[in-house]
Amino acid sequence: MEYRENMLSYKDYCTLRESVGWHLFSEEQMRTALEHCLYTITAVENGQTVGMGRLAGDGMYFLIMDIVVHPAFQKQGIGTNIINMLLKYVEDKTPAGGRSSVQLIAEKGKEPFYEKLGFKLLPHDFCGAGMRKVIRKLPG
Ligand SMILES: CC(C)(COP(=O)(O)OP(=O)(O)OC[C@H]1O[C@@H](n2cnc3c(N)ncnc32)[C@H](O)[C@@H]1OP(=O)(O)O)[C@@H](O)C(=O)NCCC(=O)NCCS
Repeated sequence: MEYRENMLSYKDYCTLRESVGWHLFSEEQMRTALEHCLYTITAVENGQTVGMGRLAGDGMYFLIMDIVVHPAFQKQGIGTNIINMLLKYVEDKTPAGGRSSVQLIAEKGKEPFYEKLGFKLLPHDFCGAGMRKVIRKLPG
């Protein structure tokens, strides 16, 4: 398995999302999002992209998105490697004496995967629940 940095293509992005039954966003949004990531990892086996992960952020707060391993390649440690590479990027960018907050929304039931990688469930003693608002627009 080969892990590549910042090589995630629009085509592979759509194929991987569809491989796990995730809906796509509009093409314009997806292309813009891919251009604006801080960092991406793709896992490539025999020329086929079988896993991906993306990171966005501003140097203090980081967001992990689109962690997908193709169903035929799951449970082989690929997802773990992708997260660890994204976390290493954040660690490298965090200055001495600084701190960074890495956030994500787990799919229902996938929390144990992230807990094994050091993420804490919210809410906990010091934080409330994570929250989000989705904004939708009808086709023009
Ligand atoms: C979740 C996902 C990324 C995990 O990738 P993976 O390569 O299969 O995971 P790994 O092989 O690195 O597994 C690491 C650990 O997490 C556990 N794990 C993996 N998938 C899990 C799941 N669905 N539920 C609970 N634990 C899980 C594994 O058992 C393993 O534990 P172990 O080391 O004690 O055996 C992958 O299953 C996937 O792409 N799922 C569909 C898309 C998705 O839900 N992505 C997450 C979005 S939040």
